Amino acid sequence: MICRRSVASASAPGKIILFGEHFVVYNNPAILASINKRIKVRAQINKTDKINVKSNGLFASYASSSLPKDIRSKFTKAQRILYPLYKSAIGVLAEQDNKKIGVDMDLVSDFPSGVGLGSSAASCVSAVAAVTSLFDKPDKNEVCSKAIQAERIIHNSSSGADCYISTFGGLIYYAKNKGYKDIKLKTDLSFLVVNTGIKHSTRTLVSSVRRFREGNMPLFEDLSCRSRYICSRALDALQNCNEKKIGELMSENHILLQEIGVSHKKIDKLVQFCLEKGAFGAKLTGAGGGGSIIALTSKENKSGIITEINKECSYQCIPVKIDFCGLLTY
Ligand code: PMV
Repeated sequence: MICRRSVASASAPGKIILFGEHFVVYNNPAILASINKRIKVRAQINKTDKINVKSNGLFASYASSSLPKDIRSKFTKAQRILYPLYKSAIGVLAEQDNKKIGVDMDLVSDFPSGVGLGSSAASCVSAVAAVTSLFDKPDKNEVCSKAIQAERIIHNSSSGADCYISTFGGLIYYAKNKGYKDIKLKTDLSFLVVNTGIKHSTRTLVSSVRRFREGNMPLFEDLSCRSRYICSRALDALQNCNEKKIGELMSENHILLQEIGVSHKKIDKLVQFCLEKGAFGAKLTGAGGGGSIIALTSKENKSGIITEINKECSYQCIPVKIDFCGLLTY
């Protein structure tokens, strides 16, 4: 296919996991929402055979062909970190007749990476969509499946949930291999993300849960059963806009995450702090081991909780709303 344009941009939202992280990897449901914080990728055709990626002060250049494993073992730090973005682009370029095309990609994010807000999924989704837009009108299903392939570089048992919510947006009930169900909300929910600043590795945490599961099969099955039950009650509570119930279930979900060993003492302290200051509920979100918590607050007490957190701790507080647009191309 010939180029449709020489420059294209796309943006995709980050996400919060309201219920079911980690258990979703083992085919249990999860409830996720995309948030009004985005990652934007600008892609431009270049006249070399290179894929160049710029993100967050890092720069890496790759040959625009599939790279053999022996080359990958000699990657620089930037090449290793930005590799999923190269994978996102090469997944699109490999389908073009002209294999000599190179692309420059520039990534700008309005939320931090590595803190459980889905930055890698949002980067892959917007990179795939921006590069696709150079040749064709992107189809969201195709963008999502290519982004999931690229994200599997980061951890190969990815449930795909992050790429899914980033592409389609909104609030969904998701089960790997079973697809998703849109959850309609009758009112806005007010979430607060509090970032501990402790970066985590999703791959390491997913592996630690795998080891926990292998060593504690009956317990893990019991916890999975509790997680499924939380998700089904949460679905009802969300559909009925019962904020008190949603909050209670979030806090209940946090206990399961503590039991599988992915919480952190700073996270537990913050969860407790938000509850004491009147949040309906709070829990870690994403892989854990640091990262962020989410708290559900009423619209009235949100700014009070932010003030208290800013007064007592030095964490970054990010009020978020649910995004209903998902992937956007420009
Ligand atoms: O922390 P994040 O944004 O990478 O979220 C990972 C979510 C997990 O459930 C732990 C893994 C997955 O693939 O769903």
